[in-house]
Amino acid sequence: TYEKLWIVGSMVLIVGFIVTITYGSVGLGITMIGNEEETIAPNELNDDEQFGEPRVEQIGEDEYAVYVVAQTFIFQPDPIEIPANNEITFHVTSRDVVHGFYVPGTNLNAMAIPGQISEMTVEFDDSGEYGLICHEYCGVSHHEMEGLIVVQ
Ligand code: CUA
Repeated sequence: TYEKLWIVGSMVLIVGFIVTITYGSVGLGITMIGNEEETIAPNELNDDEQFGEPRVEQIGEDEYAVYVVAQTFIFQPDPIEIPANNEITFHVTSRDVVHGFYVPGTNLNAMAIPGQISEMTVEFDDSGEYGLICHEYCGVSHHEMEGLIVVQ
């Protein structure tokens, strides 16, 4: 019956989504560990202990924090230099409008929203260079807004 077809069809879709998500995380050897959100006002960024100087900071034996500020049309810091096989937590916010923070082909994917901090913890299994792009339209040079993650 049609009903059965629908059920089978939606199960195939669900499995498809799971495969896509898994492939996204495994595809480039990046393991997603977790994510959450916090807030910060754009006009407080300059005086903020972390975002005042966007950077990579070692916070534990195998743990690093990366404070990223997106603004038209750059990411800071750039490049982002981090070690492989360590827990890396990205804290991403925007100084002006909504930007994206996306490493194509992976699920390292967040919005950089003014007033908000997107947080993702990941682990890179392999060294290499990973392109970073803005995938939210943010103005005339949106298509040129990119950065680089260098994993050593
Ligand atoms: Cu920044 Cu598009």
